[in-house]
Amino acid sequence: MTLFDAFRYDGKRALVVGGASGMGAATAELLQDAGAEVVVMDFADVTLPGAKAIQVNLADAASIDAAVDELGGQVDTLFSCAGVADGTPGIEKINFIGHRHLIDRLLAKHMLPRGSAIGFISSAEGLGWEANLPLLNELLDTPDFDSAARWVQEHGKADYMSMKQAICAYVARQAFPLLKEGIRINAICPGPTDTPLAQANKEMWLGFGSDYRGEVGVEASTPLLQRLGDRWPGVLAETRRLLRSAVTDAERSTRATSSSMVMWVSLSSGRIGPVNCGLVGTTWPNRSSSPGPDRLKSGTAAPTCALWPAADTV
Ligand SMILES: NC(=O)c1ccc[n+]([C@@H]2O[C@H](COP(=O)([O-])OP(=O)(O)OC[C@H]3O[C@@H](n4cnc5c(N)ncnc54)[C@H](O)[C@@H]3O)[C@@H](O)[C@H]2O)c1
Repeated sequence: MTLFDAFRYDGKRALVVGGASGMGAATAELLQDAGAEVVVMDFADVTLPGAKAIQVNLADAASIDAAVDELGGQVDTLFSCAGVADGTPGIEKINFIGHRHLIDRLLAKHMLPRGSAIGFISSAEGLGWEANLPLLNELLDTPDFDSAARWVQEHGKADYMSMKQAICAYVARQAFPLLKEGIRINAICPGPTDTPLAQANKEMWLGFGSDYRGEVGVEASTPLLQRLGDRWPGVLAETRRLLRSAVTDAERSTRATSSSMVMWVSLSSGRIGPVNCGLVGTTWPNRSSSPGPDRLKSGTAAPTCALWPAADTV
């Protein structure tokens, strides 16, 4: 048995929101390779053969409701990938509020059963969310799509960083209540990744961190596509090496995406194992030490993936 076999999705139904392009598309392909039945929701056309495509506009609550109705049954795993850049009208809805509404609808309709999992793509821009938790909690306290959208407008927070921080805070806050329902949730916070979205905002998105990438001689990450399966053992070995060693922040950030993809898919593979605690949005224990159950209960940390080996066993 290969390591990839251990992460297979045979018999699982996976929903990828934002799976028409970039990291979401790579995730959808990888899930198919791993045996999942894949449903892709996106505003753009979905070209992945064999995937059920459902059109959705995350900026429109009615469109989300219709898309969930079209889903027609439970999903074992939800990947919330869709996102847009600063300057896009409705960014607050597309990047956070719409995703939250979609999850609320799935929960209300009992479409996320025990053992299911939710994986979000936040961003390195979302890091530092803890410092803004009181304000972010006000947003999270809003009960629905419209009130959340109103709050964002009133507080001038319709921007990329605020909505990525909102994802991190949401994931941390929901981790414990959802876990009581047997549902895991976490987010990754990728750094620059060469996708259509990043190319459209190349100077800023791919320029970020280019100084240290230049010095250490590495390129921006890529979504990895289906070849990850072949490379999996190497990626895991590399991740273990990073966990063992005290890496510098720069090194950690540079390598984040390749390792996070392992984390990303394993997070949602739907198998419940021992829950290991890690900070939301990080791909391995980060600057602080593992927070433990107290932070999980207080809503400031999320469980990492079930299949991920605990740091002390790596
Ligand atoms: N590329 C990077 O450097 C980078 C870094 C950190 C985080 N991210 C995040 O990763 C995620 C994926 O981004 P990507 O770089 O793969 O970009 P991408 O543009 O390739 O993919 C984003 C997807 O979201 C979909 N989408 C946009 N508006 C939508 C709407 N209104 N309703 C439904 N779907 C909509 C797009 O059609 C597209 O398929 C985003 O959340 C992004 O913020 C990207």
